[in-house]
Amino acid sequence: MNMREFLGLGPAPNPELAKKGEPLYLQNCSGCHGKDARGAQAPGLTRMPLVVSDYKGENMLPALKEGRTGMPAFPQLSKEDVLNISQWLQLQVELAANRGTYGGTYGNLRNQVTGDPKKGETFFAANCTTCHSATGDLAKVGAKFPQVAQLKNRFLWPTTPGPAKAKVTTADGKIVEGRVKANNDFEISLTDAQGNYHYFQRQAVKVEIEDKLTGHRALLPKYSDADINNMAAYLVNLK
Ligand code: HEC
Ligand code: HEC
Repeated sequence: MNMREFLGLGPAPNPELAKKGEPLYLQNCSGCHGKDARGAQAPGLTRMPLVVSDYKGENMLPALKEGRTGMPAFPQLSKEDVLNISQWLQLQVELAANRGTYGGTYGNLRNQVTGDPKKGETFFAANCTTCHSATGDLAKVGAKFPQVAQLKNRFLWPTTPGPAKAKVTTADGKIVEGRVKANNDFEISLTDAQGNYHYFQRQAVKVEIEDKLTGHRALLPKYSDADINNMAAYLVNLK
């Protein structure tokens, strides 16, 4: 498994395009979002769900065309420019997610634990216990991921999202739930828990896709750097 898959990231950014995107980013965006996109007077972009899942810049395009509160519109940027910027941002996303292994402020080649486990416990109680338990599913997480870097990556990006689950509601109110086999503009097909195959025309039904990692994506923009270190210091002791 390569590092990107390990971190649950999408396709690798294209370095050529990222190189073209860098000067565009520095000229147009860095003043507010920071030189490394980790935030300055405007929020950091490397943990923003909208950016993290934006491999081709398609999510960012409308925001940059329209502008946002506190952000001007950038009508001069072409679709290609935005693609190049997004490729550069994808590299920063990877660096930010990877920093445990690449050193820097988070350097822990010696597996250093720099955070405060007590503060980590408080953060855990406030943000994680709706889905996890320190005496249940995560009781041995410190033994499972003894490397702090790996542990950080794991809770920041728990997994490569596997096959999605979906709930389909038909026009007459019938509900079918199961694992998604195919899903596009025209059709959706599922296998239910009994192994039965179901096929629907997309426009004839209501579809709700479960994203297992919604909770984790929502947390990404919330962590401060200290939170990440504290969280790791707490979790690594669960053995
Ligand atoms: C003048 C400051 C400023 C500049 C320059 C700027 N931004 Fe922003 N940006 C902001 C602020 C403030 C927000 C948060 C807006 C909000 O919370 O609604 C934001 C939000 C965003 C978002 C999230 C949009 C959304 O819909 O949630 C993205 C993506 C983004 N900026 C990317 C960029 C890129 C790429 C550039 C350069 C082309 C850029 N920004 C330039 C201030 C700026
Ligand atoms: C909304 C639910 C939700 C919240 C909130 C949540 N998680 Fe998770 N977490 C998940 C799911 C779902 C998985 C993925 C399980 C899988 O890989 O199939 C996961 C996976 C993990 C893993 C990997 C476990 C392993 O054995 O591989 C860790 C570590 C983790 N979460 C820590 C945290 C921490 C720390 C917080 C709070 C800061 C948190 N989670 C908040 C739902 C949540």
